[in-house]
Amino acid sequence: MKKYLVYVLLTGIIYSCKNTNENITELKESSSQIKTNDDIDKKVNNLLAKMTLEEKIGQMNQYSGFWDVTGPSPEKEEAAIKYEHIKKGYVGSMLNVKEGVAHVRAIQKIAVEESRLGIPIIFAFDVIHGFKTIGPIPIAESASWDIEAIKKLTQNAAEEAAAYGINWTFAPMVDISRDARWGRVMEGGGEDPYLGSKIAVARVSGFQGDDLGATNTIAACAKHFAAYGFSESGREYNTVDVGTSTLNNIVFPPFKAATEAGVKTFMNGFNELNGIPATGNAYLQRDVLKGDWGFQGFVVSDWASMKEMVAHGYAKDKKEASELAVKAGSDMDMESYAYVNELADLVKEGIVEESLIDDAVKRILRVKFELGLFEDPYKYCDEQRQKEVSGKQEFIDGILDMAKKSIVLLKNENNLLPLKKKNQKIALIGALANDKTSPLGNWRLAGEPETAVTVLEGMEKYTGNSLNYAKGADLVIPNSEIEMPIEIAVNETDKSDFTEAIALAKKSDVVVMVLGEHAFQSGEARSRSNIGLPGVQQQLLEAVYKVNKNIVLVLTNGRPLTIPWADENIPAIVEAWQLGMQSGNAIAQVLYGDYNPSGKLPMTFPRNVGQIPIYYNHKNTGRPATVNNDVYWSHYIDVENTPLYSFGYGLSYTTFSYANLRVNKGGENKIEVSVDLTNTGDVKGKEVAQLYIHDKFASITRPVRELKGFELVELAPNETKTIRFTLTEKELGFYDNQANYIVEPGEFDIYVGGNSDAKLMSNFLLE
Ligand code: BGC
Repeated sequence: MKKYLVYVLLTGIIYSCKNTNENITELKESSSQIKTNDDIDKKVNNLLAKMTLEEKIGQMNQYSGFWDVTGPSPEKEEAAIKYEHIKKGYVGSMLNVKEGVAHVRAIQKIAVEESRLGIPIIFAFDVIHGFKTIGPIPIAESASWDIEAIKKLTQNAAEEAAAYGINWTFAPMVDISRDARWGRVMEGGGEDPYLGSKIAVARVSGFQGDDLGATNTIAACAKHFAAYGFSESGREYNTVDVGTSTLNNIVFPPFKAATEAGVKTFMNGFNELNGIPATGNAYLQRDVLKGDWGFQGFVVSDWASMKEMVAHGYAKDKKEASELAVKAGSDMDMESYAYVNELADLVKEGIVEESLIDDAVKRILRVKFELGLFEDPYKYCDEQRQKEVSGKQEFIDGILDMAKKSIVLLKNENNLLPLKKKNQKIALIGALANDKTSPLGNWRLAGEPETAVTVLEGMEKYTGNSLNYAKGADLVIPNSEIEMPIEIAVNETDKSDFTEAIALAKKSDVVVMVLGEHAFQSGEARSRSNIGLPGVQQQLLEAVYKVNKNIVLVLTNGRPLTIPWADENIPAIVEAWQLGMQSGNAIAQVLYGDYNPSGKLPMTFPRNVGQIPIYYNHKNTGRPATVNNDVYWSHYIDVENTPLYSFGYGLSYTTFSYANLRVNKGGENKIEVSVDLTNTGDVKGKEVAQLYIHDKFASITRPVRELKGFELVELAPNETKTIRFTLTEKELGFYDNQANYIVEPGEFDIYVGGNSDAKLMSNFLLE
């Protein structure tokens, strides 16, 4: 109790009695009162002055959960250490305490009541696409290009996570990637820095809201700083070597946007960047992030990335790794046991200045104050709220809405889609059509398996047709399906169920085939060198096609796939990603035309793996594709340069036309663009109008196209709307190789349309 009083005095907050949530009768300061920066800084400084060196370092230490139902798994040595460390005040944060408020409260109680200063713990979790209510994976959500809806869905995820006692998410992942082999593309916003920045801001503000101390918001984390998405050959954790121009113009923008949106934390990464691991990279963390960008929050390492600097060949042992990391600006150590064991000695030996520790601790404590954890360490531990908020109908509606918006129609020959609602014999084929877990995708750690609505269940709701299902083939070897982190065993040989599927297809009017990836074929450590349909699915597709060509191929996957055969032969193709718990309902509604698809690809689909990296905003080269037919130009001799489906591409059940592109000067370095968009089809639909620029001659060569504006517009048949874009210095300039943002006068081409191949063009001269 004595320690508890110390804590009360320190924070200037008075509880009437023992601090369980139910017993707190009055908080002497309202959250708005304690929110001003000066006020918080004063409190942080007061607290810091009372902390021993070891307690300060404790704040910089983060451990993963260790709490069994009955307590801190005492038989496990590691758990016992963690428990002891909390009591000593040597743990600033815990991650992966996902069991809910009872566990959070139990751990918090040790920190608050048993440690000398009673500093509350901040609880972190990977809320990547929902906490309990699992929505579409981030790459899918990004395909909606619906920034408002993304923000709203993120707010829901924050509210649910906060109700489970979580204060901080390791999201959004804002890594730009041009390599679909990299499994983590499922977690991000795709390949484009402009779209990626908009999504980053939406997700940061969705998680954090206007008041971090409210019980429905959590701190966000922009990760992985930086360039992790450029891992060589798409192989997870691999080396990254990226030049200054790409770093400043492609990699950094979403991180910078997240900083400007007030993101409270950053995570560094597993990768090295140009020879220096991100975790020990002072240029990234001190010069750019905390220096140039003025970031006030704190940086957490990635899981054990501090000690991995030894394997990188950068630090000779954990002690040196700690020295390099703290000097480079890594404020919190996730699960390396490096800071907690090494930093105190480094300070005592005069190798690391205590002021560096103070700076890191202040950053961490500030976020804890902003979260209101000092005001009431149990404010996120309300059983009743957890019960009421978990899985709310509003959340379910939100994930269904987003799931529909995420779907991208890739091909629809002869209007095979939408399906007729009556008198059709429909064959549904594919193990993924009847899979209640794969649609949940990877990174749904607190989600329950077997909770997705399957495509079969979704389609069964349409009772006007006769619907029959055949698996066709297992995607994974039966009974090998397991949760993370074990690799899944793909069925590469067993075709014994083909016969039944072929027979069914033969007697059906239309065949819907759901093919793609298992949830654990994308995500962390799930790089693939061949990104075609895994296992025997391609063979199944071709076998069914032999007996019935009326196939609607529904793809469910976590990354762009190479499907050139399907593109050539299958009349209708729907990219449905992994859409979360409402997956089957969303897919059925799109197939039956109750929702007109409007998604657009946030990442290029290659024709084959050899084209990777392939991305729309590439440079022209000295011998571009347009030169002539001779041999000596930039191309392959065995595949076209163009992708299978471009960035920004996606069809609708209606059609749109763009006309009257007008470009006017709107003032100094300001260009006004307008275009008339018309729905030329028969049904209402949404279109993402996209604007691309090409700065034709510059002191550093510019990409052939760069997205610089987009608008999601809904139009009734025959309706026309004028879409207006304004280009300012923010859109017209770029970073030079000294990282200065410059706007150069000169000629620009401008393209407006429904994808990155838009043909409608104009130009202007920037004076
Ligand atoms: C991932 C991070 C994640 C962390 C904690 C790491 O393996 O790279 O993105 O936030 O684990 O779960």
